[in-house]
Amino acid sequence: MIKTFSSRAGRISSTNKKFLNLKSACLINPEVRPKTTCPIVIDIGFGDAQSFTQDILINKEYCFIGIEPYKKGFARAVEFYEQERPENLFLYNGDAREFFELIGYKASFIRIHFPDPWPKKKHIKRRLISPNFLQILEQKITNTGKIEIITDSKIYQEHIKTVLNEQKLFKKIDSFEISYEVSTFHKKALEKGHEIKRYVLTKV
Ligand SMILES: C[S@@+](CC[C@H](N)C(=O)[O-])C[C@H]1O[C@@H](n2cnc3c(N)ncnc32)[C@H](O)[C@@H]1O
Repeated sequence: MIKTFSSRAGRISSTNKKFLNLKSACLINPEVRPKTTCPIVIDIGFGDAQSFTQDILINKEYCFIGIEPYKKGFARAVEFYEQERPENLFLYNGDAREFFELIGYKASFIRIHFPDPWPKKKHIKRRLISPNFLQILEQKITNTGKIEIITDSKIYQEHIKTVLNEQKLFKKIDSFEISYEVSTFHKKALEKGHEIKRYVLTKV
């Protein structure tokens, strides 16, 4: 499997280590559906967890599964869980594609906010959004499910446009129910004055 994330080190502190090693109740076994009657939202790549954790508190009527391979961000999300004990949070430390291979249920919503852009042409295969990934998502969301993708990368916007034009599984719509706070990458995009594009997709 080609890696879609960079090996972002970020010094792992002793506190991070403690939460990475903890057998926290929020850690999800992908083979077991979370016990919830709320719609399931999968957040792919929540990064440093700062805005993601706010989203969880604001959107209590949704059950979030956060997926992130980046250890420091993941440790922060576990730390947040241990402090707040939100009932609507589950976490998976790894690659979303690996997670989707293991789950036998469907999500109502999938969010991908500011995916790693991999701007160089030679790195195009590392971009998470691809025709193949859309096929996987199509199988893992409900019939009325929605996907939200946000990016400020001009190159990624062009890439998404091409990928969407070449597929027949999803159509673009406007509304996505779940609110989000400004994330670290969102803030950087605003500071740089980048145009931020949002794509909401539902099954055709
Ligand atoms: C540019 S950051 C954006 C983080 C956050 N969503 C935000 O808005 O600040 C992209 C994140 O996606 C994660 N990522 C990349 N590929 C992934 C994959 N295959 N599965 C899950 N997360 C992935 C990276 O580790 C990284 O933290």
